[in-house]
Amino acid sequence: MGRKVVVLGSTGTIGRQTLDVIERLGDRFEVTALAGNRSVELLAEQTLRHRPDRICVGGPAAAVEIAERLRGRWSGTIATGSQGLLDLAASEAEIVVNALVGAAGLRPSLAALRLGRTLALANKESLVVAGEILSEAVGRFGGRLLPIDSEHSGLFQCLDGRPAAGLRRVILTASGGPFRTWPLDRLPEASLEEALKHPTWNMGPRITIDSATLLNKGFEVHEARWLFGLDPKQIDVWIHPQSIVHALVEYADGSLLAQLSATDMRLPILLALTYPDRPSAGLPRCDLTEIGSLDFEPVDPRRYPCLDLARRALVTGGTAPAVLNGADEALVAAFLEGRIRFTEIASLLERVLDNHRAGPADSIEAVLEADAWAREAAAQIAALG
Ligand SMILES: NC(=O)c1ccc[n+]([C@@H]2O[C@H](COP(=O)([O-])OP(=O)(O)OC[C@H]3O[C@@H](n4cnc5c(N)ncnc54)[C@H](OP(=O)(O)O)[C@@H]3O)[C@@H](O)[C@H]2O)c1
Repeated sequence: MGRKVVVLGSTGTIGRQTLDVIERLGDRFEVTALAGNRSVELLAEQTLRHRPDRICVGGPAAAVEIAERLRGRWSGTIATGSQGLLDLAASEAEIVVNALVGAAGLRPSLAALRLGRTLALANKESLVVAGEILSEAVGRFGGRLLPIDSEHSGLFQCLDGRPAAGLRRVILTASGGPFRTWPLDRLPEASLEEALKHPTWNMGPRITIDSATLLNKGFEVHEARWLFGLDPKQIDVWIHPQSIVHALVEYADGSLLAQLSATDMRLPILLALTYPDRPSAGLPRCDLTEIGSLDFEPVDPRRYPCLDLARRALVTGGTAPAVLNGADEALVAAFLEGRIRFTEIASLLERVLDNHRAGPADSIEAVLEADAWAREAAAQIAALG
């Protein structure tokens, strides 16, 4: 029998790639639970292929539909909604992969860590909004938090458990998104189609828009702070259009260590699932002689104001990061629905942050309250324009 693994968000971009990696590893893993939200047809296919004991869908209508699709071919348990996700996160398994998008991932992350499980975390929002609570849970309950983000997987490999004493700084790389070379005065005209065309990665819609504004990199600064216990001042960002170097670590002696690999999320997923082993899963390799050259440039704050907003929220602390994430979720949704312009994501986000009085983020309730306040504030500001 393989190691038992739960995949939350199995119908999404990361979830589908996780199942691909698991299949490539033969009988090393046994999928015990799968959760999707609205993609019922795909979840039914995944269920028949991976034969988990339990599945979860967004609500009762989806549960009826999937039960119908699976009738006579599978006989496990069907759960629904946020309680269903929690039950799956806490079900018997060694590894919980959290590939949900948004703040919906927070409670399942905490449930897995409180049971001392290994949490393979793609849902960066969990760490952004409740980094302190999750870090404390790792320390208290003895679980393990392994990053699925490529940059943090890169840092994890460069740091390799070394003490922080000799560390000067870490550097996360960003492709710069589709608007890296656009004249600044054209940015307000950026269309949804143009914003969704990421130059190097194929991802879900929210993270693709967050990559175009660079807020995604801001979230990654938060993630790095909590995953590796860093001072925010020690975390830098460089633009690197090829997305081959994912992260670098600079030591006090001036040495830089970098992690390089092909632009394929299945590589950090593979490491999170199999660490400390490094089995081959037949994934793409990276031939630098074919790539030829690697470019790096500093971040222009006029092009990417969201990165500074994210840093500001991290330094303010408390509920400010939850407000940053909640407001951005609402503003990105407004942009995806054509209700605001691309550049308004940053300007309206700044207004929401200006209007927020940060309080302590000492409980999940406080975090979720700030998240709800931010969504409401962003919706109102977006409607006013
Ligand atoms: N994509 C990447 O390359 C990448 C890289 C690094 C980190 N990440 C992070 O990984 C996470 C997932 O990203 P993604 O690109 O895979 O997103 P995605 O393609 O949009 O997939 C999101 C998944 O979450 C499910 N879901 C959405 N809302 C839900 C809710 N309220 N309750 C339960 N399930 C819900 C979706 O279900 P349905 O589809 O069934 O509705 C889907 O399975 C995000 O935190 C993202 O920042 C992604």
